[in-house]
Amino acid sequence: MVFRSVVAGYGGYLPERVVTNEELARRVDTTDEWIRQRTGIRARHIAADGEMTSDLAIAAARVALERAGMAASDVDLIVLATATPDETFPATAARVQAALGMTRGAAFDVQAVCSGFIYGLNVADNFIRVGQVKTALVIGAETFSRIIDWADRGTCVLFGDGAGAVVLRAEEASGDSTDRGILGCCIHSDGRHHDLLYVDGGPSSTMKVGNLRMVGREVFRHAVVNLAGVIDEILDQTGLTKNDIDWLVPHQANRRILDSTARKLGLSLDKVVITVDTHANTSAASIPLALNAAATQGKFREGDLLVLEAMGGGFTWGASVVRW
Ligand code: ACO
Repeated sequence: MVFRSVVAGYGGYLPERVVTNEELARRVDTTDEWIRQRTGIRARHIAADGEMTSDLAIAAARVALERAGMAASDVDLIVLATATPDETFPATAARVQAALGMTRGAAFDVQAVCSGFIYGLNVADNFIRVGQVKTALVIGAETFSRIIDWADRGTCVLFGDGAGAVVLRAEEASGDSTDRGILGCCIHSDGRHHDLLYVDGGPSSTMKVGNLRMVGREVFRHAVVNLAGVIDEILDQTGLTKNDIDWLVPHQANRRILDSTARKLGLSLDKVVITVDTHANTSAASIPLALNAAATQGKFREGDLLVLEAMGGGFTWGASVVRW
């Protein structure tokens, strides 16, 4: 017998304000047509003044806990993935822990930019597999609007704010690939590519928060190669094949990357969860938000095989296989 991390609940939260491509075209030299053709993005949600990453995370976590039928006191661990914490320290997860009324267990952040949710899932799953915790809340939450250079048309059109969360619960299982829950996770990083995607500030360098900088074309090139590689790797690790995949729940960076990944997997596009059109790239929040959107629409059936994948600054990348 082994412990599997079964998804017991899911939730999402998007700030109220929607910013369309047309609105951005009034601020920088761009057009709705350029943005849609190159990225598939039509609009994004932007946090209100004073609305912090923790506020988004708390809202998403509350929905996930309610769906799981659990109270905050049932949670043993919070892992919050973010690259846009409320403060340099303490961890944003600690604020979330306090707001939910959880007074025991542990709460910490992980930082792997757009791959953060996959990293967080991997960390929480390991805690559950070894029996150290029974219930974990994994959250991806971001306010990228705060680190965007709103004068840079090459990046300001790409990102949005939001949060998504899942509740994982330990369940005893047989250990084979027919089990429900997380069947495997793979994570990777290659720090040599720092300069292709980074924020030009931070407490120990400039002592300022800084702005996101990206060489988009190079990131795109690496993303397509790394994502195909890590999906092959996770399928190999779990003894599954491309034909076993029911749903792809990818990080939502660019519609063209999603199309290319689906093509390589031989998966029809109606089996790919796509939210980039209305959410844009919400970094660590994009996978749990996509998961929440598809699950809320009743797309997943019990027993469906989901592949989650992401690539982000670092570079970091990874994938998880989950049986719903
Ligand atoms: N509107 C109009 N023109 C623009 C805009 C814009 N918003 N942005 C750039 N351009 C122009 C450029 O200036 C350039 O013009 P030039 O040829 O006169 O110099 C031209 O469009 C082409 O620019 P590229 O950057 O080469 O365009 P590309 O086709 O590569 O598309 C994009 C850019 C959308 C950013 C793409 O490269 C991409 O999606 N990259 C991947 C991003 C990604 O995956 N990020 C994930 C990780 S994010 C994270 O971890 C935080």
